[in-house]
Amino acid sequence: MPSSFVPDETTISLFQQHWRVYRIMVEENFLCHREVYDRLHEFLAELEAPFRFLDVGCGDAACAAVALKETPIASYHGIDLAPEALVKAQINLTDLSCPVSLEVGDYAHALHHRTAPADVVWIGLSLHHSRRRGKLTVMRDVRRILAPGGILLFYENTRRDGESRDEWLARWDLQRPAWTAYDDADWTMMRNHVRAADYPETCSDWHRMAEAAGFSEVRELFVAPTDLFRMYAMA
Ligand SMILES: C[S@@+](CC[C@H](N)C(=O)[O-])C[C@H]1O[C@@H](n2cnc3c(N)ncnc32)[C@H](O)[C@@H]1O
Repeated sequence: MPSSFVPDETTISLFQQHWRVYRIMVEENFLCHREVYDRLHEFLAELEAPFRFLDVGCGDAACAAVALKETPIASYHGIDLAPEALVKAQINLTDLSCPVSLEVGDYAHALHHRTAPADVVWIGLSLHHSRRRGKLTVMRDVRRILAPGGILLFYENTRRDGESRDEWLARWDLQRPAWTAYDDADWTMMRNHVRAADYPETCSDWHRMAEAAGFSEVRELFVAPTDLFRMYAMA
């Protein structure tokens, strides 16, 4: 892993605080990680040829590591901004029986300069901070590096057609009663983060962006029961 970025103590403690709240979210299945990564596993386990897997915004790769077990994976490459997350990813991925490489940095930049092909590109809840143009650029770069027959799979914040961002955010707030494992401080931190940084696209937008990025087939693999998040496959 490139190690030129050395986080200072404030960055580390902020990361740990945010990461603890994110881990609760995953472990309590607030955002349906279980169902989504089960779908990802089912999809990958059915592939016959060995595949090169690119994990965009991999975080600690904890769920990906489980989903990739007993699949014909040939190699794993993960990209994330947070070096602390990649330290955890390195540990979580130790049982994979293929070469593993991790890259610290902005995935938009990394993808734009990447030439190594991938067969499967996975984005798990990491694209929604970008505005539409940024997302489209990422999708175009993914399309460019996908090998023939390759596929982009992602799970992302998604608005209903005709729904505004504010309406989506208002529906996001309705999750509070179900998120009992969060205390008020955890909830407020996550809510503030989502309000400041999340930019969901509508279902129709995803289809239009797929076409603009050069994909000819779009399939919806999963819709969260809250209808706030959707999983897509694009080829
Ligand atoms: C919500 S977490 C998702 C982690 C994991 N993919 C999952 O499904 O649980 C989002 C991750 O994307 C990373 N991330 C967000 N924007 C990024 C960017 N522009 N470049 C690289 N990583 C980014 C964050 O550091 C974080 O680890």
